[in-house]
Amino acid sequence: MIPAVNDKVLENARAALPASVVEFIDKVNQGERPSSHLIAVLHKVQEELGFLPRESMDAVAQLMQVPTAKVTGVASFYHHFSFVPKGKYIISVCTGTACYVKGAEEVIDKFKEELGINLGETTADGLFTLEDTRCLGACALAPVVKVGDDIHASMTADKVPGIIERYMNLAD
Ligand code: FES
Repeated sequence: MIPAVNDKVLENARAALPASVVEFIDKVNQGERPSSHLIAVLHKVQEELGFLPRESMDAVAQLMQVPTAKVTGVASFYHHFSFVPKGKYIISVCTGTACYVKGAEEVIDKFKEELGINLGETTADGLFTLEDTRCLGACALAPVVKVGDDIHASMTADKVPGIIERYMNLAD
């Protein structure tokens, strides 16, 4: 092992991640079984960057001393992680039982039609990402759609264009 090269690799890895993530990794590396915190580290990267860029996953692997294949394997296993940038507004349509029986499917179809994207995709302008989600814990308000931190209750397909317009105006 050539320490100088190693130091350079680690230095580059540290530079490739947000400071808060590097700090978190340094902390878990001091404890027992640092690799057991891999999911928490990936959550932190996604929280900071909005998705998991390839170079960030490489950097996590280097700083945590785990194979890159393990990092990408864990990240691919969980639906929550994204490898592509998400939109400014994430539209999550609840497809839990209460929302489903009250018409979540029609709401999703209308969002798809209006935005011209499928579930899991982001509009070309980077404004909206459309997702489905499990029960949001607001079943009495079904069907429920979450946009960013806002909850929209008793959604219908007819309300979809107005919701989209509202966030487009906010983004201006
Ligand atoms: S099923 Fe949609 S909020 Fe519970």
